[in-house]
Amino acid sequence: MSALVEADLGGETSRSQQITLSKREFEQLRDLIESNLGISVADNKRAMLETRIARRMRELSLSTISEYCKLLFGADRGGQERQAFFDLVTTNKTSFFREREQLDMLAQDLLPALLETAARERRPLRVWSAACSTGQEVWTLAMMLDQARTRQRIQAEFVVLGSDISTRVLKTAMSAKYSRADLEELPRECEPYFMRSKTPGHDLLRVVPELRRRAGFFRQNLMDDELLVGERVDLVLLRNALIYFPRERQHAIVRRVNRMLRGGGLFLVGLTETLHGTGEPLVHLGRSIYQREAAR
Ligand SMILES: C[S@@+](CC[C@H](N)C(=O)[O-])C[C@H]1O[C@@H](n2cnc3c(N)ncnc32)[C@H](O)[C@@H]1O
Repeated sequence: MSALVEADLGGETSRSQQITLSKREFEQLRDLIESNLGISVADNKRAMLETRIARRMRELSLSTISEYCKLLFGADRGGQERQAFFDLVTTNKTSFFREREQLDMLAQDLLPALLETAARERRPLRVWSAACSTGQEVWTLAMMLDQARTRQRIQAEFVVLGSDISTRVLKTAMSAKYSRADLEELPRECEPYFMRSKTPGHDLLRVVPELRRRAGFFRQNLMDDELLVGERVDLVLLRNALIYFPRERQHAIVRRVNRMLRGGGLFLVGLTETLHGTGEPLVHLGRSIYQREAAR
């Protein structure tokens, strides 16, 4: 499956000047995406790619696709435009408390157990959202951890890290500012974690400082051998990202990410994804939650 998903194109097609990619241009762009992001681009995604490039060309006031390709593959501005190009081809759909049934299972016994272990070992609990998009997953986990430790009276600190390949989505994640529409799925009891943002001219809500100071963000391409998360984590979320990679790449990514997980730590993938068959020492607890075997 490709990361180019129609759902988030939101009616822009009709407003765009249309462009047509030649076979050669399409292949060139597809190779660029596959070799840098690792995600595969099926032939039937060509129209979508054309729509998204047309939108970008409008922003840059370019009128021909060859001008755009020159920019993308040219020696000087290429680097800068490449990041913008990768931003426009990735799918960043996310929301607060996405796949709620999985998170409910996590909240029940699993999170309190992780918090208790961290408290016993006198260290902060570490969580990593490894394809965090605009940050809702990071803030969801921060809220859940804060609620769990308050409810269970566990004296543990926690840190939630978020990474993504796209600098555009990371900017939103770091700002921690969301519209009221973004907060539609937010449970009532989480509303106190948001405050009115002072952004002039925008009716935005911002995550409270008590959670913001427990979060950190960094750019990470999951294709890279080196993972920048630092120390090992207790919980990793790699949800709704693996599906975009071919199977052998998925396994390589899972292997690398799993190395950053503590023994007994939890590995969450999306509800439609599986870690079955990766050969990693992981036990399925249900609802796409896996536990790394404790070190012997
Ligand atoms: C559909 S979003 C999933 C967001 C969130 N995990 C969730 O489940 O709601 C997939 C994210 O994967 C990111 N992504 C795609 N290719 C990537 C790569 N090679 N390395 C890191 N992130 C990547 C995209 O930028 C996008 O933000």
